[in-house]
Amino acid sequence: MAPSATLIANTNDESVVVSVSDHRITCAEHYRVPAGSSFCLGDCNRAQGFRAALREQSEQQDTPRTFDFILLDPPWPNRSVKRTHKTAGSTYSVEANLRDIEDLLLGMDLDMLMADECLVGVWITNKQAVRDLVLDEGGLFDSLGVQLVEEWIWLKTTVHGEPVTPLDALWRKPYEVLLLGRKRSIDRTHIANDATDVRRRTLIGVPDLHSRKPCLKALIGPLLPSRETYRALEVFARYLVAGCWSWGDECIKFNSEEHWKKSDRTPE
Ligand SMILES: C[S@@+](CC[C@H](N)C(=O)[O-])C[C@H]1O[C@@H](n2cnc3c(N)ncnc32)[C@H](O)[C@@H]1O
Repeated sequence: MAPSATLIANTNDESVVVSVSDHRITCAEHYRVPAGSSFCLGDCNRAQGFRAALREQSEQQDTPRTFDFILLDPPWPNRSVKRTHKTAGSTYSVEANLRDIEDLLLGMDLDMLMADECLVGVWITNKQAVRDLVLDEGGLFDSLGVQLVEEWIWLKTTVHGEPVTPLDALWRKPYEVLLLGRKRSIDRTHIANDATDVRRRTLIGVPDLHSRKPCLKALIGPLLPSRETYRALEVFARYLVAGCWSWGDECIKFNSEEHWKKSDRTPE
């Protein structure tokens, strides 16, 4: 049996501060864990360990082992991430090529973590090959039994509401794309993932830290039957969200106390 990974859960109604000493996280020691959130700090190649930890948690706390929403922001091969390698805090590990990332994504057996009607969201880059890896026959969505239902464009703007680069810029596009697929019911056979009845929406927001995506918690609820109580897992996460699960080798990075400051309205 695979050794279980360590799953830390904050079952309280309030956030707690935990101390983590892990050689992969050098920036801080104290991390704020939001109410009801759980995390597994580790390599997503060790999916069996994650599932074992989830099983243990489910037996102890009588909770389901599956999720209604699974979000992935994979470490797609990316030259700009490699270039920023020397800027502290702005880089992370990426896969060397598309073949490696495909092996990682398909090897995680995420279908074992998906509840009925599960929604799967994948942030992709603007490269056609990345989109194909998710949507082509035999690609990620197909292997998970997921049908593309929505495509969201996050338009990144300055604080003045202007796109951060020209819309027709050749290299750095001012937007990122999220593909959302819904688990197909068992009796439906393969349906091509290029269906035309895909709903398209645009999110507009100001980016902050390198590669950080907007928190989708409030936007996803209306798409799920259990909109208030749905179980969500973010894979390759870099921050924790109240009530959700996060998994990845940096999944608590932006919860370190150094990334937060007290607002004038924070009570002493
Ligand atoms: C694109 S970033 C995710 C950014 C995140 N969605 C955010 O909004 O901040 C990809 C993350 O995956 C992590 N990662 C790369 N390879 C991994 C692996 N094999 N197992 C776990 N995490 C990995 C990276 O360290 C990085 O934190």
